[in-house]
Amino acid sequence: MDKEGVVEFFEVTKVYRGRYYALRDITLSIKKGEFIFLVGPSGAGKTTLLKTMYMEELPEEGEVKVLGISHRGITKKDIAFLRRKIGIVFQDFRLLPDRNALENVTFSLESIGVSYKDAREKALKILTDLGLATKADNEIFDLSGGEQQKICIARALVREPVILIADEPTGNIDPKSQDEIIDLLVNIHGKGTTVIMATHNYTLLERIPVKRTVHLERGEIKKVS
Ligand SMILES: Nc1ncnc2c1ncn2[C@@H]1O[C@H](COP(=O)(O)OP(=O)(O)OP(=O)(O)O)[C@@H](O)[C@H]1O
Ligand SMILES: [Mg+2]
Repeated sequence: MDKEGVVEFFEVTKVYRGRYYALRDITLSIKKGEFIFLVGPSGAGKTTLLKTMYMEELPEEGEVKVLGISHRGITKKDIAFLRRKIGIVFQDFRLLPDRNALENVTFSLESIGVSYKDAREKALKILTDLGLATKADNEIFDLSGGEQQKICIARALVREPVILIADEPTGNIDPKSQDEIIDLLVNIHGKGTTVIMATHNYTLLERIPVKRTVHLERGEIKKVS
């Protein structure tokens, strides 16, 4: 495996329920500081590939190594380490319904040991950057779909992760907000974060100057461009 790679897949196969091949023989090396797009039709395996990167799913064959940690013999401590280093924008949001918008973001920091005061300051700044300062006290269900999506992005970015994984982060959002989110991703990438983003939205691809695009189809890499 490549020493420089922050994410390494070697001949990875992921099978759901013992019979559904969601990933087949994936070999891929992502280097520190890259901006990677993951594209492909629904069901191609994009989310599965990302879940395997943060080790929510483990492969049946091959090996996954992320920030030097192999899925083989992975411990709870390793998982905790990866959760601290990787920011994740989930396709299905996974916000905490019993906390308001601001608390969802501060919780992301407090859970890794940041004091409430610092967490609140950072969270308010990022909500302001995303145009959501006035929604800070809203309950999650009193936010629109696009606003909830932005809270997910704020929650992932606020930790200043080494790797940012974003699964269709602009799916529910109007064009202006999409541009704002892309600007944020470009900005965080400029600070050295490795960004890996799955999307159906091909027009977004044109807005990122330096990137690599991985094309998935039926669980296989068809092309890298
Ligand atoms: N937990 C699961 N159990 C069984 N099959 C699953 C499971 N999760 C995903 N799959 C199947 O694996 C395939 C890949 O799913 P995945 O969610 O990775 O696709 P995707 O490329 O992210 O699609 P989309 O663009 O719609 O988000 C799909 O056919 C899906 O039905
Ligand atoms: Mg998906």
